[in-house]
Amino acid sequence: MTNEAIHIEDLNIYYEGKALLKDITLDIPEKKIICVIGPSGCGKTIFLRSFNRFTDFNEGLVTRGKILFDGTNALDTSTDVIKLRTQVGMMLQKPYPLPMSIHDNVAYGPRLHGLKDKKKLESIVKESLTEAALWDEVKDRLHEPATKLSIGQQQRLSLARILAVKPRILLCDEPTSALDPVSSHKIEQQLLKLKKNYTILMSTHNIHQAKRLADYVIFLYLGSLIEHGPAKEIFRNPKEEATRAYIKGEYYEEYKVDKEIDVREYGTPSNFMKTMETIESMQIGQVLRIIVDTREALKDIPQGLETEGHKIIHRKKRGDKDWEIVVRKVE
Ligand SMILES: Nc1ncnc2c1ncn2[C@@H]1O[C@H](COP(=O)(O)OP(=O)(O)OP(=O)(O)O)[C@@H](O)[C@H]1O
Ligand SMILES: [Mg+2]
Repeated sequence: MTNEAIHIEDLNIYYEGKALLKDITLDIPEKKIICVIGPSGCGKTIFLRSFNRFTDFNEGLVTRGKILFDGTNALDTSTDVIKLRTQVGMMLQKPYPLPMSIHDNVAYGPRLHGLKDKKKLESIVKESLTEAALWDEVKDRLHEPATKLSIGQQQRLSLARILAVKPRILLCDEPTSALDPVSSHKIEQQLLKLKKNYTILMSTHNIHQAKRLADYVIFLYLGSLIEHGPAKEIFRNPKEEATRAYIKGEYYEEYKVDKEIDVREYGTPSNFMKTMETIESMQIGQVLRIIVDTREALKDIPQGLETEGHKIIHRKKRGDKDWEIVVRKVE
C-alpha cells in the first residue's frame, strides 16, 4: 500500500475514569482522504481532536498512547503544540472567522509566524484562497469584514486560513454538516483536489459523502475501532456485522428522550424560537423531541438546529398530520 502518514498506537482517551476511545492502533495512509464514520457519540470528534491536541482544551480528558508522524509523538507532553497545530490544521463543523477582513483572516497565521515580506504575504493569501476555491468570489472585496461572507464562503475561508500556514495534515470534523448542498459540493470538490498534497482526515455522518470522498475508512463504534481499510473494501465487503449494519443504514441510535415540546400551535418562526429557547435550557448530551405539524417545520427546524451545531438523531412521521424531530444538544 501507500506510505503511512500517521502511526497510531494504543490511543486511549478517558474522562473521569471512563474510556471514551479504547486501544486504537492503526496506520493512516498518506495523501488520501480518510473518512471516520460511526454513530453519534462513537468518538469521531475526540479522535480527530487528539491529532492536533485540541483535546487539551477539553477539561478532564486524559489522553494516552501515541500518534506518530515525522518521528514526533503528537501526544507527548514535550511536543511543541504550536508547531503541531501548524502541521495539523483543523476545520470545524461551523466556521468561526476572526473579526477582521477576509485578507487578514488568511494572512493572520503567516504573520503570527513572523512573515513580514508584503509580496510574499500577498502571494500566500492569493494562493490559499485559490486552493480553497474562494479567490474568484472575494478577490475584489478582500478588505471587507469576513463576517459579511455567507456561511459556505466562511467555511472555505477557514480552509484558506489553515492552508496559509502550509500544514501536512487536514482534520475536517463534519465540515459540511451545517452547509447547504451547493456549498457542501464546493468543499467536497476542493478536498478531492487537496488530497494530492495533504493527508485529509474527515469525520462524517453522511455515508453517501463518505462513499463519494473516502479512499480509506475508519469505523468507530462506542469508542472502539471496529474496522478500517480501503474504502472500496469496507463499502463492498465489510468484515464486521456492525460495519455492515451501519453502512446499510440499519443502525439506529439508542437514546432516551429528556424533554419533549409540542410546537404545533406556534407557526413559523415562533416554533423555531421556542425550540431554541428549550434546547438552550437543557444540558449538553440531553435529547429533545419536538412535535411539528408542517413539512416546512420538519425541514427548517432541523436545519436551524444543525447550523447551531446540534445533532439530529432522526425525523419521523407520527400521525396523519404530525411528525417528530429528535435532537441531541451538543453545545
Ligand atoms: N469534553 C468532553 N468531556 C467529557 N466527555 C466528552 C467530551 N467530549 C466528548 N465526550 C464524550 O465522548 C464520547 C465521544 O464524543 P464525540 O464528540 O467524539 O462523538 P462523535 O462521534 O463525534 O459524535 P457526533 O457524531 O455526535 O459528533 C461521547 O460519549 C461524548 O459524550
Ligand atoms: Mg462529532
